[in-house]
Amino acid sequence: MEIQETREIRPRRSALYMPGSNARALEKAKTLDADVVVFDLEDAVAPEVKADARQQVAAAVRGGGYGRREVVVRINASDTEWAEADVAVMAEAGCDALLVPKVSKPEDLAVVEGWLAGAAPSIKLWAMIETPLAILNVAQIAAMAAAPGGRLSCFAVGTNDLVKDTRAEMDAARTPALYWLSAIVTAARAYDIDVLDGVYNNFKDIEGFERECAHGRMMGMDGKTLIHPTQIAGANTVFSPGAEEVAWARRVLAAFEEPENQGKGVIKMDGQMVELLHAEMAKRTVAIADAAGNS
Ligand code: COA
Ligand code: MG
Repeated sequence: MEIQETREIRPRRSALYMPGSNARALEKAKTLDADVVVFDLEDAVAPEVKADARQQVAAAVRGGGYGRREVVVRINASDTEWAEADVAVMAEAGCDALLVPKVSKPEDLAVVEGWLAGAAPSIKLWAMIETPLAILNVAQIAAMAAAPGGRLSCFAVGTNDLVKDTRAEMDAARTPALYWLSAIVTAARAYDIDVLDGVYNNFKDIEGFERECAHGRMMGMDGKTLIHPTQIAGANTVFSPGAEEVAWARRVLAAFEEPENQGKGVIKMDGQMVELLHAEMAKRTVAIADAAGNS
């Protein structure tokens, strides 16, 4: 079967933020069913406690115990006094990725990539897309993933910052955000990186939250960033492939493996045309389902 091999596929249905200054949350994260934990050193941490939070997060990363969860640290923006030390300490501690906030142009990410020059190649960069300028530059930012040695592997959308900076008035259908969300997903797909939707602030409103997850999935998002444990289950459900979708995907992959279908780009299954592009989609569906333990 000539299905294109792409980068590693990981489930990123649920990415829970927590303040790096909150020891209880860092500990609790080891027991929560989030695919990704994001220890925040940026907006959730007050300037007076930035240095303490950095040390506490580094100790948590080194201490481990997060199991299958991806461990990501949101550093301070690259033009702040804290950023370079954040990067040095976290690269040494060995997190899976650094989430860089306020990336408005490729250079904002290039600075951090430069600081990481000698660090393990396994340490990836994620970028927050959360400024009007970032929306205008999102294709060039995404293109950094394709540069030799490029570490960029995921976008996280910062809808709260975008609302603030654009002065948009958000509605339940997220009408003002549709352009941003589409632009970000399109750029991410063009360069084969993942993209996680913005947070839903009212963590008591589970119904509204799940509606927004479904909207994000419809837009092409891989998962959602979260602020509270009550949001994990809903995100995992909405962003998991459904049982029927998984069963169909397994059949598509099996069909392309049949001896009579070797080397074919298009086959017939249940009287329908199935192309190699469907097999590529099926491969991703099965990989996500398997990794998420939902097959
Ligand atoms: N990560 C991990 N655990 C969390 C959590 C989070 N984001 N939010 C809450 N919890 C834990 C609490 O520690 C508590 O656990 P415990 O009872 O076992 O000690 C439990 O979940 C219930 O928490 P609750 O009392 O409902 O919430 P809270 O009042 O402690 O916290 C917030 C509310 C909004 C302050 C908190 O959810 C939070 O800090 N969220 C993330 C904010 C953030 O990182 N923002 C930056 C990115 S947008
Ligand atoms: Mg922000």
